[in-house]
Parts: sequence; C-alpha cells; structure tokens
Amino acid sequence: MRGADALLQPLTAGAMQLANRIWMAPLTRLRSIEPGDVPGPLASTYYRQRASAGLIVSEAAHISPQAKGYAGAPGIFSPEQVKAWQGVTEAVHAAGGRIVLQLWHVGRVSHCEVQPGGLAPVAPSALPSQGRTSLRDAEGRPVRAACSVPRALERVELPGIVDAYAMATRRARQAGFDGVEIHAAHGYLLQQFLCSGSNQRTDDYGGVIENRARLCLEAVDACCAEWSSGHVGIRIFPFPPMPDLTDDDPQGNAFYLVEQLAQRHLAYLHVSEPDWVGGAELPEAFREGLRARYPGVIVGSGAYTVEDAVVRLERGWIDAVAFGRAFIANPDLPARIRHDRLWATPDSGTFYGGGAAGYTDYPVMGD
Ligand SMILES: Cc1cc2nc3c(=O)[nH]c(=O)nc-3n(C[C@H](O)[C@H](O)[C@H](O)COP(=O)(O)O)c2cc1C
Repeated sequence: MRGADALLQPLTAGAMQLANRIWMAPLTRLRSIEPGDVPGPLASTYYRQRASAGLIVSEAAHISPQAKGYAGAPGIFSPEQVKAWQGVTEAVHAAGGRIVLQLWHVGRVSHCEVQPGGLAPVAPSALPSQGRTSLRDAEGRPVRAACSVPRALERVELPGIVDAYAMATRRARQAGFDGVEIHAAHGYLLQQFLCSGSNQRTDDYGGVIENRARLCLEAVDACCAEWSSGHVGIRIFPFPPMPDLTDDDPQGNAFYLVEQLAQRHLAYLHVSEPDWVGGAELPEAFREGLRARYPGVIVGSGAYTVEDAVVRLERGWIDAVAFGRAFIANPDLPARIRHDRLWATPDSGTFYGGGAAGYTDYPVMGD
C-alpha cells in the first residue's frame, strides 16, 4: 500500500462512519451576518465544496452572546442561526460528507464592542489576554483589536456556561450536524481555566489541575448528556506557546485531562499541535504518552505534511489528520492526496471577512 493510502482508509469515530482520515480543521472565516451572527449566504457552498474531507470540523461558533469574541463569527444560540446551519449540513450531506460544529466560548479573547450591552468579557480571573481579536470597521472589513480587560466570572455563573454548551449541542443536533467539537484549545475560555497562569481562582474551579479542569469536563459531560458521547469530540492544545497561557506542569496537566477524557469514550480527541504558531514540535515521548492514555481516535493537526501524517499514523500516534490552511485553497484535498497532485497555496489576505474571493472561488483539479 502506498503511504498516503493509509489516509484514505475509512474510520469510525464514535457514532460517525467516515470515508477517509483526511479531515478539514476548524477555520474561522468571519463572513457571518451581523447583527445576528448568522452564517452567510456562501457558507453552504464553501462547506459543500469541501465535503470530500473525512470529516469537516466547522469554523468555531459561539454558544451564547457572551461567548462571542470576533465580529463576523457565527453563533449557535438562535433559531435564525440554526436555520442557516441547516442549509450547510444539508449541502454537505447531499455531497456525501460529514460535518461537526465546533463550539466556542472565547472568554477573555474578546472586546466590549462585541459583548452584550458593551460589557467587559468574562474569564476565570481578571487577567487580560495579550492576544488580539477582530472587529469590523465602518465598511464591514475586519480590523484587529487588542482584547478588553475581562472580569472574573462569579462561581454562580459557571453552571449557566455549562448549560450553554448543552443548549448549543441541542441546536447543533437540530441543525443536522453529525456531532459537536468542544473547543478547549488556543487560549479560549476552557483553556483559560485549564492553565495555571490564566486561572488564579481560589474556589473549586482554580488551584490544582483537578479543579482547573472541572469546567472543561463539566462542559464535555453536559454535551454528552444532551446527545451522546459518540457525537462529541474535543480539541485540545498542549504546550500553548503564548506568554499569557503559562502552566505549572504542561505535560502532567495535559495527561491528566486526557486520562479524564478517555473515560468518557468520546468520538475523538483532536490535538492542535503548537508548532504552527511558533511552538516546539511535540516531543515523541509526549505522543507516546498521549497514545498510552487515550485508546480512542486521536486526530493530529498543525503544520502537517502528508508525510508527517503517514509516519504518525504508522507509529500509532494518530488515527487521522486535520488540515487547515491547505483545505482553504484545495477544496478537493483528499483527491489531490490520492492522485499525488500539487496543492494550491492559500491567500492569507482573504482568510477573514469579505465575500467569495478566497472563500468559494478556489478551483478543484481539472477546472
Ligand atoms: C484562518 C484560520 C482560522 C482558524 N480558525 C480556527 C477555529 O475557528 N478553531 C480552531 O480550533 N482553530 C482554528 N484555526 C487553527 C486551524 O484549525 C489549524 O489548527 C491551523 O491552521 C494549523 O493547521 P494547518 O497548518 O494545517 O493550517 C484557524 C486557523 C486559520 C489559519
């Protein structure tokens, strides 16, 4: 068997039967309609064009108005949003694809301007993110902006956030998705709770890792209770290379979380690897440790080549690969891998905001 053929083999991920192991990673494109945060008119076409992925993980969708951080990102809390997402899932299914919705609460990676009532964003502790978010200018174009200083969540507010994950799962199911992916990566709310540097709480959601992981695991359990564990995946981001996401024991804490997740028999564990944003490559010992603790489906993502994916699949470290930027420019990426064709280069100037250009106008092979 040719190396890349291993990626073209079918895979069962929880309740989902997938045609291949080449997944489309979640990609925020900031083309939704405001007000309302409703997926735009081209979203169905965009996702349908990419339906040959083994699984599409949608762009992140905020689970409540408070969970929003980026102007132009879609939500999953209103009937209008559900209706628009229905168009997307129908288009993908008609083309033979599978698609899960990525569930997002940004926490402190937000701005008063996109928060309900112009209020401060929320976080485990009142520590600002050093990252930036994206707003819209008067012409609707995306503009980068420093994040607003957050306020610390009250203990009594946390059950409401867990409920919002469950409600979002219910709506994703209504919208016809094949499952949901909990976004516990990239320094958003759940990872803000997980990391000791961003979580300085003194209640039972702060302090030791068992406490810092509590909100994340409660969100997971709420989504599983709402649907079933076979329809729930999660994305994690071990060793985040951001200065405001320091951790007392990055490897030990990641292993703790993964052990807890393994007990829940989720559809999959999606590992966003840190080297695509300037971090070091994951050490082999860490990959071995992850596999030893997680017998289910592991998906690797982040600056992967086909060769990386094949080697890591053969070594048993991953079961599938998720490509991000390559899927933007190559809607038919699995066919290009199958036929060993060249990949088009994505234009980063059209990643965020705008219309069809750089979104639905990338050709497939032979066009
Ligand atoms: C334009 C863009 C938008 C992204 N949006 C998301 C997102 O919504 N959720 C998420 O978990 N990761 C997001 N990511 C990260 C990607 O899923 C992926 O991890 C990253 O692009 C590295 O993979 P690649 O080297 O194959 O592109 C985004 C990346 C890019 C370039």
